[in-house]
Amino acid sequence: MKNYKIAVIPGDGTGPEVVDEGLKVLEAIAEKCDFKYETESFDFGGERYLKTNEVLPESAVEDLKKFDSIFLGAIGHPDVKAGILEKGILLKLRFDLDQYINLRPVTLYDERFCPIKDKKPEDINFTVVRENSEGLYKGLGEFQNKGTADEVAIQTSYNTRKGVERCLRYAFDYTQKYSKKKMLTLCGKTNVLTYAFDLWERTFYEVAKEYPDIKTDYAHVDATTMWFVKNPEWFDVIVTDNMFGDIITDLGAMIQGGMGIAAGGNINPNGVSMFEPIGGSAPKYTGKNVINPLAAICSVGMLLKEIGEIKASEMVETSAKLVVREKLQSLAAGRMGYSTAEVGDLVVKNLK
Ligand code: IPM
Ligand code: MN
Repeated sequence: MKNYKIAVIPGDGTGPEVVDEGLKVLEAIAEKCDFKYETESFDFGGERYLKTNEVLPESAVEDLKKFDSIFLGAIGHPDVKAGILEKGILLKLRFDLDQYINLRPVTLYDERFCPIKDKKPEDINFTVVRENSEGLYKGLGEFQNKGTADEVAIQTSYNTRKGVERCLRYAFDYTQKYSKKKMLTLCGKTNVLTYAFDLWERTFYEVAKEYPDIKTDYAHVDATTMWFVKNPEWFDVIVTDNMFGDIITDLGAMIQGGMGIAAGGNINPNGVSMFEPIGGSAPKYTGKNVINPLAAICSVGMLLKEIGEIKASEMVETSAKLVVREKLQSLAAGRMGYSTAEVGDLVVKNLK
């Protein structure tokens, strides 16, 4: 029997609450699908930082490399200056574990929860493949004449051929393997960012030659946001850089019903991946048992797929979908008609 080692980082705010529900579902599905797992919890996050003044222990990255996968709740604390934990924990782990893909499915489970009129589940069903290791997130730049009237702040987008190519290859492979329409859209801004997206565009069409069965498509990022609202049914798989991917996936989360349901994976196809609800730590709902745990539960579903437990992954997704369609009044915190823990219980009960 397989025995997986899973690292758990509950993190800040509502992170621990939603992680509990994710683990509840993991326990139930492991029993049903005959695999075993061990978890080890890491206390990374705002509380630890405030107590120890250390964002991440020296050994964290090496320790995490020993696991089959990582399940993360949320990072971000109201008493810690914005950027410290995000850069010091979340982005550091993504970079140092070389999780160069951020995979974010946008799936509408029930039309009642779509803010766009007349859109149905079949209309909103696509995946964003976000580059996760370069671009503006690389943190390159400088101040000139800081604090003076002539101050200049420069922030550089860093794109390597190798980095762009591996992301594009992942996206083409993903499209070939999982998508129905077999169409990959490159989302960029070739009309303005004439260095960065020139490289992306050239590489895209070169790699495309190796995938004659995949239809290629291109959209500027501004137009992409327009189409997410106007005709999301156009999209199948979208590949884009780190910054654009960050932005369009928040919009993606909204059209699929909100942050309560949006799951994502930071993937290193040759190493350790990390799965997280993309909604953040939601301080105002912390400890109230009202936050929607489905994004975390669906992240467990994605984790299961990545480690090869395909059937278990499908069962979690099917149950989450059923709970959304047949039980919940809303996907928003406090309005679901059930508590956080009750939603977890419902998903467990409906695993089949
Ligand atoms: C996300 C978040 C992070 C990002 C922040 C918290 C650093 O917004 O996962 O989308 O920008 O990638
Ligand atoms: Mn984001």
